[in-house]
Amino acid sequence: MGQALPKPALRPLLPSDTPMLAAIFVASIQELTGDDYSEAQQEAWAAAVEDEEAFGRKLAGQLTLIATIQGAPVGFASLKGADHIDMLYVHPSVAGHGVASMLVEALEKLAGGRGAKNLTVDASDTAEPFFKKRGYVAKQRNTVTLNGEWLANTTMQKTLADNAAPGVPT
Ligand SMILES: CC(C)(COP(=O)(O)OP(=O)(O)OC[C@H]1O[C@@H](n2cnc3c(N)ncnc32)[C@H](O)[C@@H]1OP(=O)(O)O)[C@@H](O)C(=O)NCCC(=O)NCCS
Repeated sequence: MGQALPKPALRPLLPSDTPMLAAIFVASIQELTGDDYSEAQQEAWAAAVEDEEAFGRKLAGQLTLIATIQGAPVGFASLKGADHIDMLYVHPSVAGHGVASMLVEALEKLAGGRGAKNLTVDASDTAEPFFKKRGYVAKQRNTVTLNGEWLANTTMQKTLADNAAPGVPT
């Protein structure tokens, strides 16, 4: 796990974040998913940021949270609609230090606070053990086509604690 990092902070998306988040997206795919996806699959996946404007629009159209360390973005996660985690990417230089856990915990609280009963995610094979650890249960195996390549992922679901009565133990 290496040296302890300064504690990450969370903040909402700013329009100026797009290039930095695109770089994190590409680096995390290139450096963290190689055990699970071929080089051609990684390239097809990372190509989603080639149209940076469209990538920025996607981030802005969802509830996107940014994790920062000493002010610099190191990871991000997004909630699509009321109850679907769409994106979760952490820079390889800080992987394994709890950044994704912090992001997903915040999305779970936000979604639960807005009344979502369950959260779903189409987890990459790389992220599946992470989500399993957080209580997500595999529901369905999928193959999606991206820029001519077939990539597998798994739809997973977690039932959120009832937030109707904050402060009351359940
Ligand atoms: C999956 C990902 C977001 C995890 O980010 P992270 O910041 O390293 O995760 P955390 O440090 O919060 O990990 C929390 C726990 O999950 C475990 N975990 C994280 N990634 C794991 C992996 N690939 N395999 C097994 N366990 C993993 C950690 O060991 C840790 O366990 P611990 O609490 O017992 O120490 C990151 O690897 C990533 O960006 N991957 C590439 C992009 C991707 O696949 N995104 C998902 C799209 S759905």
